[in-house]
Amino acid sequence: MEYNHNEISAIAEMKISVFFMKVKNICCIGAGYVGGPTMAIIAQKSPEINVTVVDINEKRIAAWNDPDVEKIPIYEPGLSEVVAEARGRNLFFSTDVDAAIDAADMIFISVNTPTKTYGIGKGMAADLKYIELCARQIARVAKNDKIIVEKSTLPVRTAEALKRILDNTGNGVNFQILSNPEFLAEGTAVTDLHKPDRVLIGGDLDTEAGREAIQALVDVYGHWVSDDNILTTNVWSSELSKLTANAFLAQRVSSINAMSELCEVTEADVQEVAKAIGMDSRIGPKFLKASVGFGGSCFQKDILNLVYIAKSFGLNEVADYWEQVILMNDHQKRRFAAKIVKTLFNTVSGKKIALLGWAFKKDTNDTRESAAIYVADYLLNEQAEIVVYDPKVTQEQILADLDYLGTRSEEENRKLISVVNSAQEACEAAHAVAVMTEWDAFKTLDWEAIYEGMLKPAFLFDGRRLLDKEALTAIGFEFYAIGS
Ligand code: UDX
Ligand code: ADP
Repeated sequence: MEYNHNEISAIAEMKISVFFMKVKNICCIGAGYVGGPTMAIIAQKSPEINVTVVDINEKRIAAWNDPDVEKIPIYEPGLSEVVAEARGRNLFFSTDVDAAIDAADMIFISVNTPTKTYGIGKGMAADLKYIELCARQIARVAKNDKIIVEKSTLPVRTAEALKRILDNTGNGVNFQILSNPEFLAEGTAVTDLHKPDRVLIGGDLDTEAGREAIQALVDVYGHWVSDDNILTTNVWSSELSKLTANAFLAQRVSSINAMSELCEVTEADVQEVAKAIGMDSRIGPKFLKASVGFGGSCFQKDILNLVYIAKSFGLNEVADYWEQVILMNDHQKRRFAAKIVKTLFNTVSGKKIALLGWAFKKDTNDTRESAAIYVADYLLNEQAEIVVYDPKVTQEQILADLDYLGTRSEEENRKLISVVNSAQEACEAAHAVAVMTEWDAFKTLDWEAIYEGMLKPAFLFDGRRLLDKEALTAIGFEFYAIGS
């Protein structure tokens, strides 16, 4: 029997269609802040799908497998319960990347995409080497057709590069590439995953095989997300939507932070301004909290990436517009540190300053790009002695964050900074205290006892608008809060 070209394509697509109907084995490459929680929820909600999360970091995988589920490597409210429910049933953590790739029908790529620290695009473009290594490994190992899902945030059109690597170096198997950006925020990952505002899936809408692959992923989420909240688009829109969402969110923080500085010189109060504008339904009340500056692994990295992409297309005005969001954020961190120095009679040399909080926001142990790192670095340059307390961040991490900046030697960092086990201890005999992370527990500290233990005047700088100004001023603190 002979077939013409169209019939052959149709048969090939039918084969793919049948293959992609039901996903039974999922592999996720990268057991980090995105891969770990996302796969835990998929496994929890889809008991008939086996989910294996793999990573080259043996220590991380060992921690995910720790018999004491409270010792999993990522702290997220509610996550240990989910892991306890699914681990060993249909959720597995392993370092055997090849085996998991081989067994999977669907592979999520959830590896890190840091800003490049070398070469072209240094300091701006996303470093895609980890993604490319994954693609080459999948191409080498795969013996049957697979759906590849981009979970990491990537520059627009990365899927094209992935496809070319997979198609040109693979064993002749078919790959469908989907973009499925993750919108969870750290600290609320479990609720965000259980009840997402939307799930976005980008794929090849122009072919039957592409639509089948999209449907296969829709079906995975369909276990707990209603169809109305699952959005399907072409791949490029999906990739760009993720960068756009983070850019808009970061822009809101920089906008309110810009107003916080203006409030401080005009006797307006940024919290009142935020409330007043937030009641306008077109603006909305969320993400209008002035702070010492946004941190986290996404905002800065994604905006820099956006700026780089705009520049590479010659869109300089677009690039400059978004870059301003970062410049404002850097300014906010610097100005907070400078305010401390100025208030402490223009010198902090040899003075003890307690930093409460090191994580980039509450309810996470993640410190990437945390404002605390930069404020500490600035104060260390002014020869301050820094004492840090954070309920979830280890001393090892805090020192590694400072060492990474490379501002001074590791020995010097260890001489000038110490990490303690309670807020009270951090503040003992301090000249000033600065709240860097909005941990709820800081609201109910015994502030009277802290005041007693400090040098006078006792300065308190609230970088998060967390504390009650009236109560603390009544105790005797010289109180400064961002934006008032
Ligand atoms: C962000 C996006 O919210 C999420 O959708 C995306 O998937 C990843 O990036 P995340 O970085 O985890 O999530 O935390 P987010 O809650 O967005 O906070 C980012 C930073 O902005 C934090 O440092 C936070 O303290 C700061 N922030 C946030 C403010 O200073 N003020 C606000 O009103 C909100
Ligand atoms: P994110 O916040 O995007 O989840 P993380 O840095 O927390 O980023 O996690 C990414 C994980 O991906 C790391 O644990 C890293 O070891 C892992 N990883 C990077 N490249 C590979 C690879 N080729 N194979 C397996 N794991 C990888």
